[in-house]
Amino acid sequence: SGRMPEMGMNPNMGMGGEVTTELVTSTEKEKELALPPLLEGTLSPDGSISYTIVAQEGSTQLKEGNPTQTYGYNGSLLGPVIRIRSGQKVNIQTENSMDVSTSFHWHGLKVPSNVDGGPHNPIEPGEAANLQFTVNQGASTLWFHPHAEGIAGEQVYEGLAGLIYIEDENSDTLPLPKEYGINDFPVVIQDRFFERDNQLDYARAYNPDGTYGDTLVVNGTINSYIEVKNEKVRLRLLNGSNARNYQFRLSDNSTFYQIASDGGFLNEPIPMENLQLVPGERAEIIVDLSSYSTGEKIKLMEENVPVLALTITEETTEEPTEEPSSLPTTLNIISKGDDTGNPDKVITFSGMGHMVAIDGKRFDMERVDLRAKVGTTEVWEIDNAPDMMGGMIHPFHLHGVQFKVLSRNGNPPPANEQGWKDTIALYPGDSVRIEVTFPEKGIFMYHCHILEHEDNGMMGQVLVE
Ligand code: C2O
Ligand code: CU
Ligand code: CU
Repeated sequence: SGRMPEMGMNPNMGMGGEVTTELVTSTEKEKELALPPLLEGTLSPDGSISYTIVAQEGSTQLKEGNPTQTYGYNGSLLGPVIRIRSGQKVNIQTENSMDVSTSFHWHGLKVPSNVDGGPHNPIEPGEAANLQFTVNQGASTLWFHPHAEGIAGEQVYEGLAGLIYIEDENSDTLPLPKEYGINDFPVVIQDRFFERDNQLDYARAYNPDGTYGDTLVVNGTINSYIEVKNEKVRLRLLNGSNARNYQFRLSDNSTFYQIASDGGFLNEPIPMENLQLVPGERAEIIVDLSSYSTGEKIKLMEENVPVLALTITEETTEEPTEEPSSLPTTLNIISKGDDTGNPDKVITFSGMGHMVAIDGKRFDMERVDLRAKVGTTEVWEIDNAPDMMGGMIHPFHLHGVQFKVLSRNGNPPPANEQGWKDTIALYPGDSVRIEVTFPEKGIFMYHCHILEHEDNGMMGQVLVE
């Protein structure tokens, strides 16, 4: 790995600098949430849009004191928001200006496998690749991150991740908050362990069952707040952590509404007080602040640790004609999947640490694990085999599609999983059925989204013909 301290010995070792993984409330001064820039594209007369994304090394002022050595896309940390439209032709020029191999994976995007950016498509230092595709899905919040074999965990940990917003006619017309950075915020949630010199040391923080940190970093900001009006605020949450599962709630335990899952709008807003996100999962939520007044503060919490403070600094000038909680009742029209058939495929996740496997095997780039037909709908059953230790939650992710969850252990999925998904939690002992239709031919990965499990081979590939 490219950035080990000299001679591999960490200067903090032996000084009591123990790696801890329990989240703590940071003592850093509160800072306004960093907003990723909206990437400027070049529109062609034919309506296609072109973007350039460069993976690069940099240094970022994350904490007081030393800046942190980081990776980023078109900047020193994380990436910009890439906005594309349903039906649009897109060109992305990807460049690797780092001194290590990487890849550009578009998590949740329905693209051919030569665009997908999995381990078969590494981009070596100094190299570039041009990708072309047509957006073949509805409004949604997706993300991109590296996926080169065995090193995804390290590169995400050091800062490589960005967001993709797909918009369409539905998202244009729905009366939802959509002013970027005013009432519509990207919220990329990650946990990191900072060494005493403020550096990230992946090798030292590394855990084969998932690398955790004790400090929450949201869009690259520690102890972040946003200033908002007392109106509805939309948060586009991404669990961009290597391994941590979150249980979000509001500090006063009030109700919020989930409006979108991984692959786009749910059919209707789902009222909830608690939301779990496993690594790789997204959710868009609406927090209705209309009953709060200027000066009040409400926090998005992970259990008892603040994630993001919402500070009301201004009364809305809008007439209070609407019901405080009125949201559109129909957001999308997604038909229910057919849960009557037998599964076409059964996939079993098992193990922990270095012993993780899918169907008893570890990833082999030369081996095709499953075959499917393009455009054909299949039912997949994914099992998480419990073991003597009780097992652990594995987030299952499948490339190249958005799927429907048919059932969890024979029961209908919870309301917020009754929409398009690309990543789902598998609890120990779970048996989950999903309905999958691949829109493109090629070779696609399915894997655990604990990045260290993925890097250790908890990944398989399906050949779509
Ligand atoms: Cu988000 Cu195969 O990855
Ligand atoms: Cu993916
Ligand atoms: Cu796993």
